Amino acid sequence: MTHSTADSGDSSRTWEQLSTGFEQARAREDSLDRLVEWPAQRELLGDVTGLAVLDAGCGNGAKVAQLADEGAAACVGVDISGNFIAPPPGVEFIQGDLSDLSVLPGMTGRRFDRVLFLQSFGYATDPVHALRVAASMLTDAGFILLTRTQPVRYAIERAEQNGTSLGQEYFATESFADRHANWDENVTLTKRPYTMSDLLNTFSAAELWIETTVEPQLSAEVAQRYPHKQAVLAKYLGILMFKLRPLPRVSGLRTND
Ligand SMILES: C[S@@+](CC[C@H](N)C(=O)[O-])C[C@H]1O[C@@H](n2cnc3c(N)ncnc32)[C@H](O)[C@@H]1O
Repeated sequence: MTHSTADSGDSSRTWEQLSTGFEQARAREDSLDRLVEWPAQRELLGDVTGLAVLDAGCGNGAKVAQLADEGAAACVGVDISGNFIAPPPGVEFIQGDLSDLSVLPGMTGRRFDRVLFLQSFGYATDPVHALRVAASMLTDAGFILLTRTQPVRYAIERAEQNGTSLGQEYFATESFADRHANWDENVTLTKRPYTMSDLLNTFSAAELWIETTVEPQLSAEVAQRYPHKQAVLAKYLGILMFKLRPLPRVSGLRTND
C-alpha cells in the first residue's frame, strides 16, 4: 500500500504506515536522533523533576516516557499515528492532531512546564495557531522546545534532484515530495518549503521570543566512530533547536498618539 499526504492534510494514515519504519530507523545505534538530536534536546529540557511535559507529535512516546522515568510528574504524548508504546506510570498518550492541542480530550485547562515539538511542527495545519495554543498552555516559567530540519538540507537535496541551484530551491514556494527510503520507500510526504525567515517570522507572529538556538553536531569522538553520519552533517547541516518563551505582557504601556 502506498500513502502520500500533505504536511497539513490528513496525515494519520500516512504516519500510521510510516511510524514503524521511522521508529526502527530512530532506534538504530547510529541514528542521528540517538547520536546527536535527543542528547541535545534532553540537555535543553534541563531537570524535569516534578514537571508537567506535553510532547506534541511524540512518535511512539519513548522520549516522553524517558522524561517520566527521570522524574517528570505528569506527561502527555500526542501523535496522529496512534502507535504508542505501553504507557508507563505517569504517562498518558492521546491519538490526535497537534494543530490545536487545547481541544484534545482532557486538555481543557491543562498547563505544562514544557511543550515539545520535536521534528513534528511542520505538520501543523496553521503553524502560528498551533504555537499560540501551545504557548497558552504553558505555566508561567514554562517554555516550548521546537526542533526543525535545517531548510538548507531540503534545498540541497532538491537542487541535486532537479539540477537547479541552492538559492532557487531555498526560495522556492511550491510544495515538494519527500521520501525517506530508510523509513518506508512506499510513503511520500508532501512538504511545504520554508526559509529561516519563515521560521523566525512564525515565532514572532505567535508572540514568542527565542531564548536559545542550538545546531547540534557530533562530538569529535562520535564523529570518528560514525564517519558516515559525520558526512551527512557535513553536507546537510542537521537540525535547528529553539527554546521559545511567550513574550512578557507589557501592562500600562503608553503610546505617543
Ligand atoms: C519525524 S517524526 C518525530 C517523532 C518524535 N517527535 C521524535 O522526535 O522522534 C514526526 C511525528 O509527527 C507525527 N505527526 C504527523 N502529523 C501529525 C499531526 N497532524 N498531529 C500529531 N502528530 C503528527 C507523526 O506521526 C510522527 O510520529
